[in-house]
Amino acid sequence: MKKFLFISLFLTLTVSAGSQTSIAMVVDASAAEHTISRHIYGHFSEHLGRCIYDGYWVDPALPVPKHDRIRLDIVEALKKIKIPNLRWPGGCFADEYHWRDGIGPRDQRPTMINTNWGNITEDNSFGTHEFLTLCELLGAEPFIVGNLGSGSVEEMSKWVEYMNYDGISPMTNMRKQNGREKPWHVTFFGVGNENWGCGGNMTPEYYVTQYRQYATFLKNYPGTALRKIACGPSGGDYNWTNMVMSGLVRGGRGNLWGLDFHYYTRPPRGSAGQGSATNFTEATYFGTMRNALRIEQLIKGHDSIMTKYDPQKRIALVVGEWGIWCDPEPRTNPRFLYQQNSLRDALIAGSTLNIFNNHCDRVKMAQLAQTVNVLQAVILTEGPKMILTPTYHVFDLYKVHHDSKMLPVKFTSPDYVFENQTLPALNASASQDSTGAVHLTIVNIDPNKNVNISITLNQIKWTTVSGQILTSANLTDHNTFEKPNTVVIEKFNGARKQGDMLDVLMPAKSVVMLELK
Ligand code: AHR
Repeated sequence: MKKFLFISLFLTLTVSAGSQTSIAMVVDASAAEHTISRHIYGHFSEHLGRCIYDGYWVDPALPVPKHDRIRLDIVEALKKIKIPNLRWPGGCFADEYHWRDGIGPRDQRPTMINTNWGNITEDNSFGTHEFLTLCELLGAEPFIVGNLGSGSVEEMSKWVEYMNYDGISPMTNMRKQNGREKPWHVTFFGVGNENWGCGGNMTPEYYVTQYRQYATFLKNYPGTALRKIACGPSGGDYNWTNMVMSGLVRGGRGNLWGLDFHYYTRPPRGSAGQGSATNFTEATYFGTMRNALRIEQLIKGHDSIMTKYDPQKRIALVVGEWGIWCDPEPRTNPRFLYQQNSLRDALIAGSTLNIFNNHCDRVKMAQLAQTVNVLQAVILTEGPKMILTPTYHVFDLYKVHHDSKMLPVKFTSPDYVFENQTLPALNASASQDSTGAVHLTIVNIDPNKNVNISITLNQIKWTTVSGQILTSANLTDHNTFEKPNTVVIEKFNGARKQGDMLDVLMPAKSVVMLELK
């Protein structure tokens, strides 16, 4: 009977009146089962454009606080959003990177050409020690991606030994000579990147054979159990998932912790200029949001294939690269993938993270591409200046979900209608933390209509509600070095306790985080 009551509640009428719609929603603590891993909130940083060099790792003369050459204003900003992990060194760069070139005295390190990203000369000044120092400063776990495409089994195997072994060995000695006494205990380790493409153009059958061989020689040294992550599919390549799972997993077990799935949101193509990060029409916005929301259908598709081989969901779907990929900003190197970041990107980030939260039984890790100055970056820099993007603020709002119990949220979304096409206007996720506080994050992607939400909270004790909102006058609004605070978090006053119910007036084009205590 109780169950029936809740089902009928969230299926109740959606009432539209002018630019306002009313719906019912249920947040159900009685159905809480899975935990939202903090690792869903991870980031990706590649040797690409100005992410590492002139991003984290700067000229010694740049007038900013630094540790060695690591920019500490960036470190502080990422610590504030509690960055849980950082994926490195690529990306496509990973499968042409030779880690031994990036250790030892910097003036003796060989150079190489970064063929994927503009043929620029890589001086290898940022290598294993520098990256792992950055992770220590951030308090983030490293996720290192090894070179399967153009490296060797020996090279990958020795990298793990160099980073993780504490006993007497040539790699331990070399690490000590290079100034690091104790191992770093790296656990997340990717066995190649996009090996169906830039990582070697392999068939899934060939990759499976390669993976088995490489993974055999990646050892668990004392105190460090590796979490090996296999190259996963791109977008809707279900054949890749099926072949890799069938080749690597038997009875729910295999020599892997996760499968690294990549999906980028592209603005729809058609007429010139549609790919701009900050200059787009509502038609382009609508198409972009449709592409962004498609990630849920893809997660469900890959999950159902993985479930055939791993019904207990021991193996993680890792969304190792995600985010919006726009045209590079005018007058920048097109291979540096530098793009601005607008309110639209924040709505994509909020929606995607709600989707990840709601699928946390399978999605146990994810990395937004690419942290600083590349693609959907959370931080942009220009000389000593640094700004936080709207996407950064979403990660700030959503950090309350880290390692909290996911609470299912049920509702029927009103439609966002554009020229006779529709998308669900609302998406949401909720969690309960270890103190009992409940957090609900809601996104309204409709740029024109507010939504009244009447929320039933099943088996949740609460007396107060407070909230924060991220919105702005226009979808194209963004923060610049001249005006860094155009899109920032503000206090939200649109939530009220009405008896046992929570009433929320959810403004158009906004991300809201509510805290119930
Ligand atoms: O993030 C940019 C590139 O996109 C990465 O190097 C690659 O893995 C993906 O195709």
